[in-house]
Amino acid sequence: MFPDWKPLITKPSFSDSMCAVKTEGYTRVASTDEVPPGVSRKVDLAGAAVLLANVDGSYYAIRNECTHVGGPLDEGRLYHFEVECPWHGSRFDLRTGSVTHGPARLPEPTYDVKVDGKNILIRPK
Ligand code: FES
Repeated sequence: MFPDWKPLITKPSFSDSMCAVKTEGYTRVASTDEVPPGVSRKVDLAGAAVLLANVDGSYYAIRNECTHVGGPLDEGRLYHFEVECPWHGSRFDLRTGSVTHGPARLPEPTYDVKVDGKNILIRPK
């Protein structure tokens, strides 16, 4: 009685070549393969440099520019949930952006992070 039924709606999928996919304010910034546990890297979000880090399989994102005098946090070292600025040693908590060691006094802005398949997406909070 009914002809062969086929769904008209298919679920969209991401690919590594889709670098600017946006959903609910989120933008894809990297694949999970590019940021394995214990690794951080600089990513771009609409022209802003963001530090994306993987701590034990969870991802965190904070602004990449140190609030002291602008050191590049992606060139610093990770200490579990902290990143150390390479210029003067300030440390920031990746979960909250708060300063855990000076001389910096102001916290870093943080970003919401979510994972969709192998895609890491972030948005400003
Ligand atoms: S610029 Fe980062 S601690 Fe000075």
